[in-house]
Amino acid sequence: MKQIAPSVLSADFGNLKDEIERINNSEADLLHVDVMDGVFVPNISFGFPLMKPMKKYSTKPLDVHLMIVHPEKYVERFCDAGAWSVGFHLEATDDPMPAIQLIRNKGVRTCLTINPDIALERLIPYIGEVDMILLMSVFAGFGGQSFIPETLDRIRTMRQAIDSRRLKTLIEVDGGINTKNAGEVFAAGADVLVAGSAVFGAKNPQEAIHKMKNG
Ligand code: DX5
Ligand code: ZN
Repeated sequence: MKQIAPSVLSADFGNLKDEIERINNSEADLLHVDVMDGVFVPNISFGFPLMKPMKKYSTKPLDVHLMIVHPEKYVERFCDAGAWSVGFHLEATDDPMPAIQLIRNKGVRTCLTINPDIALERLIPYIGEVDMILLMSVFAGFGGQSFIPETLDRIRTMRQAIDSRRLKTLIEVDGGINTKNAGEVFAAGADVLVAGSAVFGAKNPQEAIHKMKNG
């Protein structure tokens, strides 16, 4: 099933409740929550305090994307803050398994992600260990960047790796997704598309979500 996860990073934080309610009243499947620490990525977004209103107002499950160093130190707190899934970057760890285990122990879905310059071969050993893998289609750190076209081949390769092992792991794709390219990203084998500026920057976010989902 095609799923859309609007990224709250592009929302108007002065009207966070209204922005989230617009997503509640849409065909979106998840609310994507981008957490940046200013160390793993050259930008800082928000942390635990904003998880509270997001959890309170969102009727969509919270899909947390941690762009932080030492994810194993913080994943449990994001689980406790109400995350539906917690993902972190493979390249932010020496070994992703301890953090994956901590998330699993909380009964929360696990996601492992990589930036566009990280070889897929590094991620493939873990595809059976997580519920979802997230392929970045821009370099993590900022909303509003352009989709990197080479990502399409990476999605196809990953789709094949997952299907040939008969795994149920979902493929999420994040960065530069809009109403024009969503169709081909799904066609390449993605299950979940993250979209920030294409949703919150649209005149009609609900319509943008509908278009991305239904082609
Ligand atoms: C980038 C974030 C993305 C971002 C997507 O580091 O992980 O989730 O918010 O924004 P757009 O859709 O504007 O590229
Ligand atoms: Zn993200």
